[in-house]
Amino acid sequence: MGTACRADQVLTGVGRIMTLSTNQYWNEYYDAGRDFLPATTADLDQFPTSLSLSASGDHHTALDIGCGTGQLTRELYHRGFRVLGVDASTSAIATARRATTASTATLRYLRRDVERDGIDRTLPLAPYNLVTCRYVYAFIKDKRRLLQSIASVLLPGGAFVLITPLIGSVPPHKRGIAVDADETRALLAELFSVTSHERTGDGYYVCRLREGGEHAR
Ligand SMILES: C[S@@+](CC[C@H](N)C(=O)[O-])C[C@H]1O[C@@H](n2cnc3c(N)ncnc32)[C@H](O)[C@@H]1O
Repeated sequence: MGTACRADQVLTGVGRIMTLSTNQYWNEYYDAGRDFLPATTADLDQFPTSLSLSASGDHHTALDIGCGTGQLTRELYHRGFRVLGVDASTSAIATARRATTASTATLRYLRRDVERDGIDRTLPLAPYNLVTCRYVYAFIKDKRRLLQSIASVLLPGGAFVLITPLIGSVPPHKRGIAVDADETRALLAELFSVTSHERTGDGYYVCRLREGGEHAR
C-alpha cells in the first residue's frame, strides 16, 4: 500500500480537478502510490448503534461513496455489513479489489462517478441501511442533488454518515478539500435529522431520514 496521508496534507494540486476528469485526477493520485489514512475507531465507533451487526445474521447493507482503495469499506465489511464501495477512479477501485479476499457477493466495488452516473436503487445491494461518505463531499459540485439521491437509496431507519474536513481546519490554499460547517448542516437538514460534532477539524454528521419527509419510506 502506498504512503498514507490525510487529504489536507496531500491535495496541493486540487486546482487540477478543474482541468482533468474526476477519474483522471484521482488516478494520477493513486497511481503515484499515495493513499489515505485507514479508517479508525473514531470513524466507526460513532455510527448509530442500531446499525451494528444483527445477531440474527441478517446483515445490514451499506454503500460507501467515494470509497477510494476501500479503507472504510473493508472496515464496514468486517463489522458485518454487506457493502458496496463506489469510486470514480479506476485505479482506486483496482487497488481496493486487490486488497480483498472476501466474497465478491458481500464486499463489492464498482467504478462509478456519482455526479455523472448518479446513485439509485439499481446499484448492487440497494437499498441500504447505511450510506457513508468520508473525505469526498467537498469534491461534489451539486451537493443537494447528491444528498437527494442518497435519501432515495436509504432504507427506513437507515443513516447517512458524512465525514468531511471543515473550512477553518485547513490552510486557505486547501479550502477546496473542505466545506463550511453551517452551510453543510443547513443543506443536510433539508432532508435529514442531523446530529453532528467536530472531531480534529473534521465535521462528523449522522443523518437520518426525517419521518414523513419526502424521501421517507
Ligand atoms: C480524499 S479521497 C477519500 C477516499 C476514501 N473515502 C477514504 O476515506 O480513504 C476522495 C475520493 O473520492 C473519489 N471521488 C471524487 N469525486 C467523486 C465522484 N464524483 N464520484 C465518485 N467518487 C469520487 C475520488 O476518486 C477519491 O477516491
